[in-house]
Amino acid sequence: MKALVLSGGMGLRLRPFSHSMPKQLIPVANKPVLVHVVEGLRTLGITEVGVVVGDRAEMIEGVLGDGSDLDVKITYIPQDAPHGLAHCVAIARDFLGDDDFVMYLGDQMLPDGITELARDFRTERPDAQVVVHQVADPRAFGVAEVAADGRVVRLVEKPESPVSDLAVVGVYFFTAAIHQAVAAISAGHRGELEITDAIQWLVSSGADVRARVYRGFWKDTGRVDDVLECNRELLDRLKPSVRGDVDDASELIGAVVVEEGARIVRSRVVGPAVVGAGALVEDSDVGPHTAIGRDCVLSGTDVGYTIVQDGATVRNVASVRASVIGRDASVTSAPAGGGHRLVVGDHSRIEVAA
Ligand code: DAU
Repeated sequence: MKALVLSGGMGLRLRPFSHSMPKQLIPVANKPVLVHVVEGLRTLGITEVGVVVGDRAEMIEGVLGDGSDLDVKITYIPQDAPHGLAHCVAIARDFLGDDDFVMYLGDQMLPDGITELARDFRTERPDAQVVVHQVADPRAFGVAEVAADGRVVRLVEKPESPVSDLAVVGVYFFTAAIHQAVAAISAGHRGELEITDAIQWLVSSGADVRARVYRGFWKDTGRVDDVLECNRELLDRLKPSVRGDVDDASELIGAVVVEEGARIVRSRVVGPAVVGAGALVEDSDVGPHTAIGRDCVLSGTDVGYTIVQDGATVRNVASVRASVIGRDASVTSAPAGGGHRLVVGDHSRIEVAA
């Protein structure tokens, strides 16, 4: 089985970060979402991975390379514009050939793994197998109507009145039957070739399309709040290790990772938390559920339930919570008597205590 990972698209809901990086590269527990995705595919025994990339191709290639670091072989498939998930299947035809494949949206986190779902597909080989997850409000997703025997009866993309509470997860198992379906459909109301329509075409043609329920943790990392929740979930699985320096005046509590070259000075770090390579944490309180990237500087500050991306500085600021701080950004206190001084990028969001 091959894998097709979708890593194009716009990421509008993840602005301002998606102004400067593809949303699939946002770090969760100090590792880009896309790396978590490819590692998960490798655990299924998959080694041939096609990655659909848009205009940020270079940044994605900079992180994944040829795949050898992750023990896979990566083929990049350029997409000129986000014409839809089914369009991605069409442009990947040469890479896919007639092989079975799993299509994985590059912004999905399923840390509990999909081993059993892949095994079901490999042994039963229906024409297609979708993955569904029960949610309270599925209107932001594809929604599946599923018969008692697991066969898909109907699929609708982002319906106003959902027929069930089963959201379609962004992981799909396909045989070569999908190619005929993709060729048969036309663009939907979003102007995109929807994979949901292609799968519905298979259902309407009498093909064997099944749904399997995923019961673990699932998030589409499309919004900042979802990224923070994913970060919490992954950090909760963290195994502590200290490869950097922790001075005698500091305290580590619970599952804390201190990467190589990181220094903890006169500080308290409450796990789960990770401090990235080369970072300096001094006179600060960090955690829980906090990921500090490489080469960050935290000084005289108190940061919890937060992601601080590589190279950022947080100095003399009290109580930073539920925040995501971008790469090389600087958050510091103002000089006495001064008001707030803000140099804020487009579509940023600042919430200042009154
Ligand atoms: O999160 C699950 C949902 O993902 C499903 O329930 C929906 O049925 C499915 O259509 C999809 O909906 P989204 O609106 O969330 O898809 P989005 O446009 O965000 O694209 C998902 C990923 O695929 C994202 O990483 C960007 C990438 N992509 C998207 C398009 C439209 C591409 O690489 N090329 C594209 O043309």
